[in-house]
Amino acid sequence: SERANPEASQAREPGKGTGGDRLFVTRYDEAVSVLLDERYSSDLRSVMTPEQRARLEANMPEEIRPLAHSILLLDPPDHTRLRKLVQPNFTARAMELLRPRIQRLVNDLLDTAERKAVERGEAVSERRMDLIEALAYPMPVTVISDLLGIPVEDRERVHGWAETLLRAEGQDAMRDERIRTSMRAFGQYLDGLFERKRREPTEDMISQMLHVQEDGDTLSHQEMVSMVFILFFAGHVTTVNLIGNGVVALLSHPEQHARFLADPAGLAKGLVEETLRYCGPVDYISTPRIAREEMELGGTHIPKGENLSLGLASANRDPARFAHPDVFDITRPDAHRNIAFGKGIHVCIGAPLARLEGQLAFETLFQRFPKLRLAVPAEEMRWGSVASLRGFNRIPVLF
Ligand code: HEM
Repeated sequence: SERANPEASQAREPGKGTGGDRLFVTRYDEAVSVLLDERYSSDLRSVMTPEQRARLEANMPEEIRPLAHSILLLDPPDHTRLRKLVQPNFTARAMELLRPRIQRLVNDLLDTAERKAVERGEAVSERRMDLIEALAYPMPVTVISDLLGIPVEDRERVHGWAETLLRAEGQDAMRDERIRTSMRAFGQYLDGLFERKRREPTEDMISQMLHVQEDGDTLSHQEMVSMVFILFFAGHVTTVNLIGNGVVALLSHPEQHARFLADPAGLAKGLVEETLRYCGPVDYISTPRIAREEMELGGTHIPKGENLSLGLASANRDPARFAHPDVFDITRPDAHRNIAFGKGIHVCIGAPLARLEGQLAFETLFQRFPKLRLAVPAEEMRWGSVASLRGFNRIPVLF
């Protein structure tokens, strides 16, 4: 517990104190039990009085309001309704249909990296790329933009807003004028896009959601904006770091690296799962819950209204769940039991997509460039953190 003063903690306004004033759940079993227990809410409004809710809404800049309707921050029944709408896009079957497109994209991106190195006149043994810029970033961003149906010619603009929003740090970020301007521009852009797609629907998720909206009136405009926003953003940061973190982990463990090179196709799944477990993209502050009632957790008293932060990264290294948890082992038989995607009703919708993207990226990259290595010593690689996600901003490699 980070609480210095339990009495003060009980007295404080629910949902306040997103800084240090919260409980960290660091063990696997406790994290899973919270994720599976609906008495822990994802919606901090669930424990507020009507006055507190009204104050929260009033204090929220208008542009930001759609975010309060994000699927991540809702409880059933609203959560269930929204989830049903998007889930069919991420089934195993839907992923298999996507596989050839993603494979082509990975091939094209690696072709481009190679062509650029040749154009720069780099000798065969000295060809360089920044793995984030060449593959880990453009691949998932292109896939999610295609799936949503964001036209190619608009993407640069949309990515610009997304980048500004992603750099939003701290509690007051949402009041920052630059953030509000980007959010406003993004909102206005989406209004126009929805209008165009209403007139001329295309085969994509936005058109499909608009169709549902017209049909059953089950999706409000704010919910629509917020769903597009979260899907677009999840595609921007999380899978980027899965790919980046996995490549760095592999290249800095020579024995695992050699093993992988002997069978990239057979071990790609194992590499994805072990990356998620050992150095997954989500750190400790991104999975908040709030106690709807007074409870007990792992011998700790949880007052009603307590803020909890689930340490998914730490749970994934709990020695009570994973033997030798600090060892990176791509053949670990139970790596897939990691909770990097969460668990329970909010378990990541995009997990099948992220897993597929990770597998294809790892497999293709190492098959094609078996001599791939870090261009700087692994100890010099610095973790960056964007929007509570951990990864590397740059990964210079020689290939
Ligand atoms: C939810 C992690 C990729 C869309 C979540 C949650 C986690 C997570 C931990 C649960 C949060 C909670 O319980 O409060 C990750 C990781 C990813 C990834 C580690 C990549 C390696 C993606 C992708 C998409 C996506 C590619 C979309 C295409 C979502 C959505 C939710 C979610 C919509 C909300 C689900 C709900 O509240 O019911 N993700 N995610 N994620 N993720 Fe992901």
